[in-house]
Amino acid sequence: SGQSEYNLRSPICCIMGHVDTGKTKLLDCIRGTNVQEGEAGGITQQIGATYFPAENIRERTKELKPDANLNVPGLLVIDTPGHESFTNLRSRGSGLCDVAILVVDIMHGLERQTIESLNLLKMRNTNFVIALNKVDRLYGWKVCHNASIVKAMKQQSKDVQFEFRTRLTQVITEFKEQGINTELYYKNKDMGKGTFSIVPTSAISAEGIPDLLLLLVQWTAKTMSERLTYSNIVQCTVLEVKVVEGHGTTIDVILVNGVLHEGDSIVVCGMHGPIVTSIRALLTPFPMKELRVKGSYEHHREIKASQGIKINAQGLEHAIAGTSLYIVGPDDDVEDIKEAAMEDMRSVMSRVDKCGEGVYVQASTLGSLEALLEFLKTPEVSIPVSGIGIGNVHKKDVMKASVMLEKRKEYATILAFDVRATQEAQELADEVGVKIYTADIIYHLFDQFKAYIDNLKE
Ligand code: GTP
Ligand code: MG
Ligand code: NA
Repeated sequence: SGQSEYNLRSPICCIMGHVDTGKTKLLDCIRGTNVQEGEAGGITQQIGATYFPAENIRERTKELKPDANLNVPGLLVIDTPGHESFTNLRSRGSGLCDVAILVVDIMHGLERQTIESLNLLKMRNTNFVIALNKVDRLYGWKVCHNASIVKAMKQQSKDVQFEFRTRLTQVITEFKEQGINTELYYKNKDMGKGTFSIVPTSAISAEGIPDLLLLLVQWTAKTMSERLTYSNIVQCTVLEVKVVEGHGTTIDVILVNGVLHEGDSIVVCGMHGPIVTSIRALLTPFPMKELRVKGSYEHHREIKASQGIKINAQGLEHAIAGTSLYIVGPDDDVEDIKEAAMEDMRSVMSRVDKCGEGVYVQASTLGSLEALLEFLKTPEVSIPVSGIGIGNVHKKDVMKASVMLEKRKEYATILAFDVRATQEAQELADEVGVKIYTADIIYHLFDQFKAYIDNLKE
């Protein structure tokens, strides 16, 4: 077989939802891995990616449909954190995907980040299926390992079936309150036309997993063939910048379309300007293994989309997560590409007030910086920004912010999100009278900044 029989790339599916609804565990269940138990505090704090080849999906869904014709080479699943602090990673994941799985805990119904995720999906018009997870926690559940949900449900007592229907009805009502119509997938005649499908699942005993996989793959291949048609134009996004023992600074990327080769000249957006380098190694985890987990990697001479890839190259230390990666082709002018690569950065910069009066804003990624600038611009807030930065707050940032002490004292302030002020920077700030506000949690951040802003206006 091989990939050549397909002219469709693998759909990219983002898995989203409130903390501890079982996103990572669902992927563990499909992979046959144990990533979740290795996570600090049992919570996901990074964005991840796993490639599921079609043959593994066929194997896993054969009970439901033998030799299913999947029409795509596989499925690339992006795992995101559900914890409230990681809105930026949920946003990055949902910005990359063709389709999504929204996970809801059947015992809890819709929760805060379920609704946040739902809003991200609505905003981008992304289709999704709902995994109504943890059905095995219904009192008296009889395990039917890896069974289709219809078959598993038939095995249950009247009491279990009753509790299931009650909780399902409640969840459907809660979605309705969010303006979303939902229905059990096998009863949904209106899928993709306004009614979203619910697949009951268990990540522990695997009921409903065949249903979830088959529905997702067949539905995307059928309804999104145009979007999934393979193209030679490289479309690639930097997910994370990481130091990996034995590999130096690497970038984890999602190759959405096109092909990458070892030795390719690439350009990525850097904190101090465009980074021009060449791919030293193209690495992937083995199929059904998680990209974000340290392990052994497969080396490739070339990789075709869609894939989650670790790239090793020189000079990546200051690459910015959330930006695009560009290839320099033989006929390309590298200067044009450098310009394109910095475009993300420039569009953010252009929003900074040119009059030179305003606060200083610092964030961990370009994406979160943009979100902050957007917030500060809203009419209710309307706080001018005179300078921006990415990464920790250093003395030089305090110096820049201190310029405002002469002009508008209240703007001699650094609003820092998801980054720390170095001790030296804090000391200098205290000494000269620059305020540094830091926050790690976006929700809290907005509240804190609002309090600060209200204070300013008084
Ligand atoms: P974050 O990434 O931190 O947002 O959490 P998550 O959504 O990835 O959830 P995770 O996979 O970490 O699971 C959270 C807890 O729920 C773990 O203790 C899992 O073992 C448990 N869990 C997940 N799925 C199921 C399920 O289907 N049934 C039962 N009984 N427990 C589950
Ligand atoms: Mg997780
Ligand atoms: Na968790």
